[in-house]
Order: sequence, then structure tokens, then C-alpha cells
Amino acid sequence: MSPILTAILVISCLSGGLTILLLIAEYFFANYGEVNIDVNDGEKSFRVEGGASLLTTLSSQKLFLPSGCGGRGSCGTCKCKVLEGGGPLLPTETPYLNDEERKNNVRLSCQIKVKNNVKIQVPEELLSIKEFSTVIEKITDFTHDIKGLRFKLPEGESIKFKAGQFANLFSKPYDDIREETSRAYSISSAPKDNRALELIIRYVPNGMVTTYVFKHLKEGDPVKLIGPFGDFFLRDTNREIVCIAGGSGLAPIRSIILDMIDRGINNRKTTFFFGAVGVKDLYYVDEFKAIEKQHPWFRFVPALSRDDSDHPYTKGLITDVVASNYGDMKEIEAYLCGSPGMIDACEKVLTGKGMPKTQIFYDKFS
Ligand SMILES: Cc1cc2nc3c(=O)[nH]c(=O)nc-3n(C[C@H](O)[C@H](O)[C@H](O)COP(=O)(O)OP(=O)(O)OC[C@H]3O[C@@H](n4cnc5c(N)ncnc54)[C@H](O)[C@@H]3O)c2cc1C
Ligand code: FES
Repeated sequence: MSPILTAILVISCLSGGLTILLLIAEYFFANYGEVNIDVNDGEKSFRVEGGASLLTTLSSQKLFLPSGCGGRGSCGTCKCKVLEGGGPLLPTETPYLNDEERKNNVRLSCQIKVKNNVKIQVPEELLSIKEFSTVIEKITDFTHDIKGLRFKLPEGESIKFKAGQFANLFSKPYDDIREETSRAYSISSAPKDNRALELIIRYVPNGMVTTYVFKHLKEGDPVKLIGPFGDFFLRDTNREIVCIAGGSGLAPIRSIILDMIDRGINNRKTTFFFGAVGVKDLYYVDEFKAIEKQHPWFRFVPALSRDDSDHPYTKGLITDVVASNYGDMKEIEAYLCGSPGMIDACEKVLTGKGMPKTQIFYDKFS
């Protein structure tokens, strides 16, 4: 090996070793003592032990920021403005922040470690997010990998949310998993049904929370939920609506449509395209078909991408099916929900047909 390569190798090993030593030392010996967290210019403030992430520290004080991935830095939903004490922007945050957000001191709260006094600003509505100790009233097998769960709220409690929003569900420690963990799930029930919450959950092989839900949860079990979160909800316009969902992405769309019925919104033509692989992946078809019969403004179009069996549904990829149903979409508004790949593909089709990006709303299940 050349002397230069040897020198590079030695330096890399030394700096790597040093970093690991520093991390170990910080883990075992760092003591940040008590620090002050100031929220919205003194509207709330608390003294807490430093050392945990800002997201965890805030939730220990019952201030809940949205968190899709449970603090792993992979969803970008836990943003808040950090005006003081956040330290430098980390490489783990940059993929989730645009230029405007960086200029305005927006940070990912799960990536910031609380080491000294911190000043933050959060939207006012987050201050009223609540934790609910619920009980599972009913679990329904919708398909081979999708379950519906209905949670009863504690006696005397109710929840106020906008159709389309989500809640965080906490799993308890199980098998080798030692800590409670949370993930985001869109609420599928209507806001009018405010003494209970329904969620639709698709099993992710080896997924921490979905394994808990599918393999450990039973009717009657207690479950912690926090919410409501999110800005995916029906905008108050008179535009025609197109909803597109795949898999468990049906959840918030169902809530939005049930809410339109409850609120008597019948002047907006609405078409719901539901993409699935085969007949075995369809659910809630009877309910949406019944809504279609009773409400002339609503149309339900299930489409199957890979099922050549003899079935009454539209065949094809959901993007192709949507594209073939419309000409110019400039005056239409879209609500999309499902995997990031599906949403990106749909957005391309919609904008290609003239729909402005400002009229496209979505929740990516990332
Ligand atoms: C705003 C929001 C709303 C959401 N609403 C719903 C909902 O209503 N219903 C629902 O089922 N999910 C929903 N999700 C997704 C959900 O929060 C979890 O990400 C998902 O259930 C996986 O969690 P897990 O703990 O089981 O898997 P994890 O332990 O987080 O992941 C395990 C592995 O699977 C991969 N993975 C994670 N998610 C998926 C996926 N969807 N498909 C394939 N691979 C994946 C990961 O990359 C990882 O390698 C939503 C997400 C967001 C951000
Ligand atoms: S909770 Fe911070 S990125 Fe997901």
C-alpha cells in the first residue's frame, strides 16, 4: 500500500475512533442539567432536564408535535421554528427543509438535542393537541393485509378534528422492542362521530408498529393515541373534486366524504378513484357504492392494476384510469393519499392536464 493511502487510512481510523469515543462519552457522561423551553414568546414555558430530543422533551410536557416516523428523521413532519438554542442545522434535516423554511429557522424537532435554553414557535392549534387513553372496541380484517380499528375514547372525552387529519398510535414494548413507539395513521371516521376514532392500518412486514397492531393487539386492549395533526383536509372552495387513493390511503378520503355528507356539501362533483392490485385488495366497496346511489354528486371508481379475472371493476393503473377520465383539469381540486410513489405519479398526471400544484393536496404515507 502506498504511504499516502496508509496515512489516509490511519487518519480515517483515528477520527472515526475519536467520534465513536465522543459519542460514547456523551451518552454516558453528558449532563446538560435543567434548561428552559420557551414556546410562542412565553405563552408556555417549562423547565426540563436536557439531553433528549426536542420532540421527546416537548411531548413529555404534553406539547405534541406531529411525528410520522416516531422520531427517526425519515418523515419530515415534526417541524417547528427554533429561534434560539437549536444549534447548527444537521445533515439529517436538510433533505426535508426548503430554502424558505431554512431562512425562517424551521427545524426537525426530532433531530435537535436539547442542550441549553431553547426558544420555539409552533402553530397555535398544536397547543390543543391531546393524548387519549383509548380502548380498542373493534378490529375488522378488511383484506389480507389491511385491518380497520375502532377506538373508544375515555368516558366524558371527545375529539375535535378536521376530516383528513391523522393521529399517532403508540405501540407498547413487545418481543425485543423495549420502548413504546409511535406512527401516524389517518383517521377514517367522520368528525361527527367524536366519541370514537377509526383507523385503517396496512401491515408492513417487519414494521415495528404494524407488527404490534397485527400480531399483538386485541379487542379490549388499551391504546394511547395523540392527535389530531396535519393539514390534509378539504379546502373550502366550490371546485369539482378528484380523490385518488391506494391501499390504506382510503382512510382520510373516507373521512372527507362522510364529512361532506354530514355537512350537506352537495354542490361539488366528487370522484373517488381507488387503486388496488386485485379484487382481494378491495374493501369498503359496498359502502362507497351505497353513497354513490344516494348522492348524485359522488362517483366511486375502483381500478385494479393486475387482475385479469372476470370482475366488474375498471382495469388499469390508477394514473391511466384518472388520465382517461378527464380532459383539462385546470378548475379541479385533487386530494391524494397513499405511497410516495403513487402520489408523485398522480401529481405528474394532474399537472400535465393543467391542474395547478396549489390545487393538489396530499398525505404521503412515508
Ligand atoms: C401523515 C401520515 C399518515 C399515515 N397514515 C397511514 C394510514 O392511515 N394507514 C397506514 O397503514 N399507514 C399510514 N401511514 C404510514 C405509517 O405511519 C407507518 O409508516 C407504517 O404503518 C409503517 O410503520 P411500521 O412501524 O410498521 O414500520 P417501520 O418500522 O417504520 O418500517 C419498517 C420497514 O418498512 C419500510 N416501510 C415503512 N412504511 C412502509 C410502507 N408503507 N410500505 C412499504 N414499506 C414500508 C421502512 O422503510 C422500513 O424499512 C401514514 C404516514 C404518514 C406520514
Ligand atoms: S418525526 Fe422527525 S422526521 Fe419523522
